[in-house]
Amino acid sequence: MDPTALSIATMRADEVQTLEDWAAAEGWNPGLADLAIAYAVDPDAFIALRRGDELVGGGSIFSHGGAFGFMGLFIIRADLRGGKLGTTLWHQRLDMLRKRLAPGAGIGMDGVFAMVPFYEKGGFKFAHRDLRFEGIAHGQMDPDAHAYPDISFAEIDSFDRCFFPAPRSTFLVRWLEQPGAHVLGIRQDDMLAGYGVARPCRKGFKLGPVFADTPDIAERLIGSLMAKIEGEPVALDIPEPNEAGLKLAAKFGLSESFGCARLYYGPAPDLPLNGIFGVTSFEFG
Ligand SMILES: CC(C)(COP(=O)(O)OP(=O)(O)OC[C@H]1O[C@@H](n2cnc3c(N)ncnc32)[C@H](O)[C@@H]1OP(=O)(O)O)[C@@H](O)C(=O)NCCC(=O)NCCS
Repeated sequence: MDPTALSIATMRADEVQTLEDWAAAEGWNPGLADLAIAYAVDPDAFIALRRGDELVGGGSIFSHGGAFGFMGLFIIRADLRGGKLGTTLWHQRLDMLRKRLAPGAGIGMDGVFAMVPFYEKGGFKFAHRDLRFEGIAHGQMDPDAHAYPDISFAEIDSFDRCFFPAPRSTFLVRWLEQPGAHVLGIRQDDMLAGYGVARPCRKGFKLGPVFADTPDIAERLIGSLMAKIEGEPVALDIPEPNEAGLKLAAKFGLSESFGCARLYYGPAPDLPLNGIFGVTSFEFG
């Protein structure tokens, strides 16, 4: 094998682990199980750029059942940046993902602000900003917040359909059942009116998703999740158009620390952003 020849192919499991370490080195603080869950659900989503047999870059092209795609974890090894490797890998990933989706299916991504012009040149359109808020968890358990599976998977799965562009049951069940996660829901009039997940990350916890019908339900849910992880570092990613969400972040003492541009290729989904108080992840949608 020519040790300098570039190739692009699906990743081996050990390469996924390397990509996770690179993501941590970028300060993205991946959830402890995020990549393992995505790899179990969609092993073809992880793409390696190799020089010879050495991993020099990677990224994910997750397919939510062929109906909606998401690009994330776009990283070139730190010592090789600025030499157009990223351009090659990114365009090939987009082509590969489009082939994996139903005709006309949309693709989303949360990109760092500095790269927005590059993604726009590649055909993506800016939708809004997703802002990360961080702090230390403090909250009170709401007496009406119930844990999964007292709130059933069927309830959560059908509620989730209102806030995510495509069905994602196989992903969601693993997300809810990952080790160390807290999953809570609140019902109103016997119907689920909000649910949220706190999952352990390399540092502290992230809340995501947090979906709720009203800001009041969101506040009670976030407070209850915070109570479960009292005193831990916590992060919450909120779509900027959700003004009630931004106010809640301040109320819980969280401050803005980072952000991404949500961009779409093809049709942008019509999501109720006012009910999205926590994005599931910047990597998989
Ligand atoms: C982003 C990244 C994968 C690009 O790989 P690369 O091999 O350096 O990229 P290229 O040399 O092919 O350049 C690709 C484009 O990215 C732009 N770019 C790269 N890093 C940038 C930065 N920090 N700020 C602004 N633009 C940047 C380049 O200007 C270029 O755009 P252009 O074609 O319009 O000039 C690489 O820089 C990286 O791993 N960065 C850290 C992780 C990261 O931020 N990933 C993106 C998350 S959305």
